[in-house]
Order: sequence, then structure tokens, then C-alpha cells
Amino acid sequence: MAASGSGTPTGHDVIHVAAADHVDALIDEISQRGERVVAVADDLVFVAGAARPAAWARNSWLAPRTITIDSIGDGARALRALQRNWTLHRVAHHRRAQLIADRLPPIRFRALTFPADPPTAPLGGWTLWDRHTLIASPVTTSAFADGTPAFVEDRDNPPNRAYLKLWEALTLARRRPGPGDRCLDLGAAPGGWTWVLAALGATVISVDRAELAPALADRPEVAHRAGDAFAVRAADVGAVDWICSDLIAYPERLLELARYWCAACPRAAVIITVKCQGPVDAALCARFLAIPGARLLHLAHNKHELTFFRLPEGGPPEAACAVDTTD
Ligand SMILES: C[S@@+](CC[C@H](N)C(=O)[O-])C[C@H]1O[C@@H](n2cnc3c(N)ncnc32)[C@H](O)[C@@H]1O
Repeated sequence: MAASGSGTPTGHDVIHVAAADHVDALIDEISQRGERVVAVADDLVFVAGAARPAAWARNSWLAPRTITIDSIGDGARALRALQRNWTLHRVAHHRRAQLIADRLPPIRFRALTFPADPPTAPLGGWTLWDRHTLIASPVTTSAFADGTPAFVEDRDNPPNRAYLKLWEALTLARRRPGPGDRCLDLGAAPGGWTWVLAALGATVISVDRAELAPALADRPEVAHRAGDAFAVRAADVGAVDWICSDLIAYPERLLELARYWCAACPRAAVIITVKCQGPVDAALCARFLAIPGARLLHLAHNKHELTFFRLPEGGPPEAACAVDTTD
């Protein structure tokens, strides 16, 4: 492990496992919200201060502890004494770590068949820091193997792979549209997200300058409007229960879009992809989080982007939320 030569980190209250290729964005996010990074090793970021989820983390270990072990059996016993279910984060000493993992109670991490809810069993996270040191947390933010949800894919029906992002977002939201719900899908073409919403039985108003895939455009529950999605106002579409956007645009424009729809439809669920350009602007992310009820999370199916949530009942619990500055 990169930092192990300098000793096991101390003084941390939470360890974040960074989303793939986003360690720097995670460190900026943590620093921006006033927490102190005490160590970084590979994609593990050790932080002092209140244990809170972070947008650029795929998992956050909220109750970390360092455990000295004499042997492989000793390591497995120490983990089992804390709880049953564990996910190994592999960074070093792979063979020895696997031998410890093999002695833990088996868990079958199955790909989810959408629609499905996340597993509810508590899942701890651990890594082998050096031959005689485990770092483990029985409390984590993600119920998925190493913080990475996986789905049984549909390779036949959706027009592209963007549907996986919305599957993941709706799974983490722990709610989804259904028959009787009206959804607005902004930046919808060729229609992966519209396909998800229509397949759930909702009606969809899709907006894009481009056309939907013909098989979707012909569906009775889908009404496509060709034009500028940023120009659409609430009065143009009537009452909607869900507002989804996968528009490609500058983050500042998407911030205005999020602010507008959250204010215009206070009871609707809002899910917006926030495309990041170049280095991530942590201050801009904080402005998204300043929207009441907002959450931000990098999904396993996101690239260089975050997903903004504003759900009527709050959540997802895995996602970063605004810092509470009230005493
Ligand atoms: C990433 S793609 C959306 C993919 C879509 N969610 C899917 O599942 O197939 C982004 C879309 O935003 C659309 N777009 C970008 N700016 C737009 C604008 N101002 N008005 C309407 N559509 C726009 C593009 O035409 C493109 O189809």
C-alpha cells in the first residue's frame, strides 16, 4: 500500500474509498467542507472529523479501527467477532488478504435484476494494510461489494447503455416511478432513460434537440418534444412527479436547471446528471448541495460526472448532503 511505509494512519474518524480515478476530486471535496485529510493511500482517503458520506466516494467507512493480527486465522476471527458480512477492498498483500477473506462467512454478491432494492444487511469494509495490520469498519455507507452496484444488463431493448445510470440512481433512491406517474426526461435522446421510465409503466415527456430511437418514439406512453430542454418551463408540461436530466451542458447551467425544477416542483423527485469538465470545482458542488434536500453522488455507472438527487423523503443515504452549520 502506498503509504504503509510511513506507518498506519492515526487520528482519522472516517475512511473514504474514492470513486475510480477521482481521488483528487474527493480530497478537494473533503477539504472544501472543512474536514482534514490525515493520509491518502492508493484510493483510500483517511479523514478527521465527523463521519459523513462524500460525493466522490464509492464507499465510506464510518467506524474504522486498526487491528493487529498474528496470523490469517487471527485476522478472520477478529473480523467475524465484529460482524458477519464483510467486503474486502484490495490494495496490497493480495494473496494474504484473500486467504483471510476465504475464512469469513460467504456472501454472494449477486448482480441486481432491476427493479430491485439495495441489500439491507449491514456490510463492513476492510483492507489488509500490512501483513500484521487490518483496517476495518463494521459500518459503511454502501451495501454493495466494495461500494459498486452491478446489474444484470439488458442487451436487447434499450437504445444505449445510459439506462444503467438511471437504474443505479433509482435503486439508490429506493423509489421509482410507476403507472400513473408523469416523468419529464430532459436531454433524452436516443432514449435510454426514457426507456427505463416507460418500462416502469410511467408516462414520459422526453425533450431533446435530437430524435428518440424509433422503437421508443412509437410507444404510447412516450411523448417526444424536439427543442431546447433548457427552455422548458413547468407550465409547459403540467404537473410532473419526476424530473430527470442527462443533458450535456456546463455545470453552471445544470445548477440553474436544478434550482429551477426543485423550486418549480417542490414535491417532485429530481435526478440530474452533473457533467464535470476538467478539474472538479468543489465550490460548485457545494452550491448544488445548498439546494434544500439535495444530495450528490458519483455512481458506479457515471464517468466524469456526479448525480444530483432531490427526493421528497430525502436520501439516498449513500450520498453527500449539505454541511449542517446550525448548532
Ligand atoms: C448524454 S445524452 C443523453 C442520453 C440519454 N439520457 C439516454 O439515456 O439516451 C445528452 C443529450 O442532451 C442533448 N442536449 C444537449 N443540450 C441540449 C439542449 N439545450 N436541449 C435539448 N437537448 C440537449 C443532446 O442532444 C443529447 O441527446
